[in-house]
Amino acid sequence: MAAPHPPRIDLARHGTQVHVHAWNASGREIGQAYLEPPFAPLSETCKRDLEDLRRDLGRPDLQVMVLRRSEIRSAYWRGRGLGTAMYLAAAREAARQGAALVADECHWRSTSADAKRVWTGRRFNAQVARRGLVAYWTGVGARPNPAALAAWRPECDAGPTPRHVDAGHPQAARIARLVRLVAAWRRDLVRWLRQQGGDDLWNDVANLARNEGATLRRLAAKAGVRFLGVGSSRVAFLLDGDEVVKIEYNTIDEIGSANLRELRRWVHDPPAVARWYAPVTASAPDFSWITMVRATPLPAIGRFTPPPGAPRLGDEVVRENWGLYCGRRVLVDYAGD
Ligand SMILES: Nc1ncnc2c1ncn2[C@@H]1O[C@H](COP(=O)(O)OP(=O)(O)OP(=O)(O)O)[C@@H](O)[C@H]1O
Ligand SMILES: [Mg+2]
Repeated sequence: MAAPHPPRIDLARHGTQVHVHAWNASGREIGQAYLEPPFAPLSETCKRDLEDLRRDLGRPDLQVMVLRRSEIRSAYWRGRGLGTAMYLAAAREAARQGAALVADECHWRSTSADAKRVWTGRRFNAQVARRGLVAYWTGVGARPNPAALAAWRPECDAGPTPRHVDAGHPQAARIARLVRLVAAWRRDLVRWLRQQGGDDLWNDVANLARNEGATLRRLAAKAGVRFLGVGSSRVAFLLDGDEVVKIEYNTIDEIGSANLRELRRWVHDPPAVARWYAPVTASAPDFSWITMVRATPLPAIGRFTPPPGAPRLGDEVVRENWGLYCGRRVLVDYAGD
């Protein structure tokens, strides 16, 4: 049975927990659940299922996240695929963190008959690899209808303000290494420029950096990441899990911080504006780096004009500042003023 208005599902991080909220078209909360890392060993059955799934996927490192207290609060929404949409959102988030989803039952509590119907349901299984009550989101083989799509890709919806951004990152050590490497690279550029005797350091550094692709690729390799691009103030690298880290190398002070401007816009701009932004996922306390979801570069064909309705920031006129994300164009650089 198809629901007339697809529910909106969003995820909010609270420390190591991720809360899953489902809303109907009039903004009433109709369902919730939360995800958290296990704090005790899994049941014997689930342990075996996890081992099997790790083997199936060739992922011996696969972690788990427990789905807890899933609850549909409105009788109207029972039997309309809301549970499936929430579980898929949770499984997708777990996968983003390198983990499979496991049921409450694997970890102390019990799993209801309704929940078991989701676990074994056709639509859930079209998007996960599953052993018993352990499921890893793969997203393959799925042919969701357009209405269900909105519920299945919750991070595509910018959601209400203020938006949550993590203060740390699972790949923090690697990011710290990159920050050090980028700082050393900048010192080299500045030393060289001082010898040349220019008088506009900020512009000179930015111009020089544009031709530093080969050096930045080598630098990236040292930290085990891929170099994506460099702008006038930031270098972008690809982290594991389709996330991008942007490191500032040409920032005069905090007020001039492109990362801070971008972060502020992502957190506070209204949904109608923020839908044009690639989401920021985490930030350093001093804004020296931020992480963002990765967007696919736009093909360099023909003259570029920003899509109608895009916010006017100054950055939006440059093709390189756009990417494709969730099937639409988004700004990957929205730090302009
Ligand atoms: N989310 C992303 N997904 C994919 N590529 C990205 C992403 N963010 C940045 N990039 C790549 O990195 C490049 C540099 O990033 P960005 O434009 O944010 O830096 P900048 O210093 O603010 O640039 P500008 O010179 O426009 O001020 C981009 O042009 C793009 O190629
Ligand atoms: Mg840019």
